[in-house]
Amino acid sequence: MKVTVIGAGNVGATCANVIAQKDIVNKVVLLDIKEGVSEGKSLDIWEAAPINNYSTRVLGYTNDYAQTKNSDVVVITSGLPRKPGMSRDDLIATNAGIVRGVTQNVIKHSPEAVIIVVSNPLDVMTYCAYLTAKVDSRKVFGMAGILDTARYRAFIAEALDISPKEIQGMLLGGHGDTMVPLPRYTTVAGIPVTELMPADKLNAIIERTKNGGGEIVNILGTSAWYAPGAAAAQMVESIIKDEKRVFPCCAMLNGEYGHKNIFLGVPVKLGKNGIAEIIELKLNAAEKELLNASAKAVRSVMDVLDKQVAAMPATK
Ligand code: NAI
Ligand code: 2OP
Repeated sequence: MKVTVIGAGNVGATCANVIAQKDIVNKVVLLDIKEGVSEGKSLDIWEAAPINNYSTRVLGYTNDYAQTKNSDVVVITSGLPRKPGMSRDDLIATNAGIVRGVTQNVIKHSPEAVIIVVSNPLDVMTYCAYLTAKVDSRKVFGMAGILDTARYRAFIAEALDISPKEIQGMLLGGHGDTMVPLPRYTTVAGIPVTELMPADKLNAIIERTKNGGGEIVNILGTSAWYAPGAAAAQMVESIIKDEKRVFPCCAMLNGEYGHKNIFLGVPVKLGKNGIAEIIELKLNAAEKELLNASAKAVRSVMDVLDKQVAAMPATK
């Protein structure tokens, strides 16, 4: 099996490094547009192999898509973070241009690949990759939910002074402050979290989770990469090993949860062909309302992309 990671920045390089440490594939191709970045980081990861005890070879290339040929899984992390003075629409236009160009090259060389999008704004960049790739929507989806639930789980573990390994949680909706963590589906070693924590404490954790990305940006001055890179690598592992693990991922809905033609975070089963199944939870009225509000927010950003695409000159 062959894995390619596009973008050798903070998230992409971390993702390649975590995949290598899992020792689940012979080769990972790491590609970036910036001369030397992928090559240098790949060599560094390879030099850690004798210490960390893996055989996976990470190979870096500058914009040479022939090297990505016949990849089974491609992770797209290329994209800019929002800069001062840049409007949301400017960011969408810039990153959509990058994601569109990258996806065209990826599909040209690996028409059968499963594509995992990481670039922000996540839900809409996943939609952009899907529109460009023109493949089954089960093969193009986004990473956000694993990261957002990981933050949620870590905060619960900290509050209860219990190992994060014991915390399970589920979350729906877009990757942003409208995301919908679900206390009814959150357990600690099988015990409902609501039995272990008062509601006000859990609500504070939910609010912190919704702002988890911003919290890191405020501390670091740039966005997170260790947890995002590890989250994308966990999705790759489930696909490569056909594990059918259940994760919240940004997937195209075709009627599930009462929504159509929209990319939203929902629980999915991930196997060798991508999304094997979207799992539909029975939501109560309050949860449905929150999910609908999140869908509305995502739809408004998708509309921005649709308008930009409509204004683009026709290609022959
Ligand atoms: P970064 O700036 O460290 O890395 C981005 C890399 O993409 C750079 O090395 C750049 O040269 C490369 N790149 C730009 N255009 C390219 C192209 N056309 N082809 C190939 N490579 C290209 O940024 P970082 O921190 O790695 O974040 C990457 C993206 O992931 C951002 O959009 C960020 O907002 C997003 N992100 C998403 C998360 C999620 O939960 N979905 C979590 C964290 C980051
Ligand atoms: C994060 O949640 C910014 O999407 C990025 O860390």
